[in-house]
Amino acid sequence: MSEVDQQTCVRPQGEFQKSVSGLPEVLVTRRIPEAGLELVAEQCRVRRWDEDRPIPRDRLLKLCEGVEGILCLLTDRIDREVMVRAGPKLKVISVMAVGYDNVDLAEAGRRGIVVGNTPGVLTEATADLTWALILAVSRKIVEGDRIMRSGRFSGWAPMLLLGADFAGRTLGIVGMGRIGKAVAKRALGFGMHVIYFDPQRLEPALEQELHAQYVPLHELIAKADFVCLHCPLTEQTHHLIGERELSMMKPGAYLVNVSRGPVVDEQALTTALRQGRIAGAALDVYEHEPLLAPGLVELNNVVLAPHLGSASIETRNKMAVMAARNLLAGISGRVPPYCVNPPARKG
Ligand code: DGY
Repeated sequence: MSEVDQQTCVRPQGEFQKSVSGLPEVLVTRRIPEAGLELVAEQCRVRRWDEDRPIPRDRLLKLCEGVEGILCLLTDRIDREVMVRAGPKLKVISVMAVGYDNVDLAEAGRRGIVVGNTPGVLTEATADLTWALILAVSRKIVEGDRIMRSGRFSGWAPMLLLGADFAGRTLGIVGMGRIGKAVAKRALGFGMHVIYFDPQRLEPALEQELHAQYVPLHELIAKADFVCLHCPLTEQTHHLIGERELSMMKPGAYLVNVSRGPVVDEQALTTALRQGRIAGAALDVYEHEPLLAPGLVELNNVVLAPHLGSASIETRNKMAVMAARNLLAGISGRVPPYCVNPPARKG
């Protein structure tokens, strides 16, 4: 496969009605769903990293030179070095993800570069995956699958892989944004009591609708049978769950992380799981993704998913289209429809 797929658009439209050679040049850092790529290719000359692995840093630095826009993934670190290498033409960075902690937002702001993300469209898929992980770890689905495949199943047994019940138990949601709320709605169906923590407390009517009770973070950690993380990664949330918090959790509790890996001190979690200080954990994200903390894979009380939160066909198509629209708006000098650093209005 070629390293870079250089496409030249033959159907320039609208504001991009220029000669083919005058089309804005953009970098798409990885193969994304066609629906998004086609939109971009209609109006831009596309440089694309076309291998099925994240773009290596040196290639990113080379391929971004002189582009007007970058459509990137959460796996690409878009920092000052990239922005400097891209040069003064760079107007927009469009992340195909809701989380944009991979972009140096302050640097982008200083350079007048707008940054877009893809909120909303992945809420339901990510909430579904959260529940898949809650169920998988607490009902030992993955351990069971391993037993079946290895031929160790000798028939129904009264003590085999006994897990947790949900009805009447407490779900603690850290980060009550769109995804946190969607997770809370599903908890009602399981007959669970929901508590949550978020720096911004919900309106009483919404708390009532979700049957969710606000509690301070450390109370949540101490009371919940399932602690689910849905907060963004910021300086404040880095290692939000460390050794101290893990020691405060109930011995029978589970930790589920579908936010960003560094929100959890993964080495401390591995130790807590190995020592049986909590019942288990289910992770979709990792502190040094794609690497895992030493010893984590050897543990049976953890379920490990390869960052699948938004990985449904429909959702990824929508994310790609949204990221493409953000990119196109940015290179035409407009504020992207989903912009995380809209320029301040004058006057
Ligand atoms: C996001 O959009 O931030 C997710 O982590 C991608 O699945």
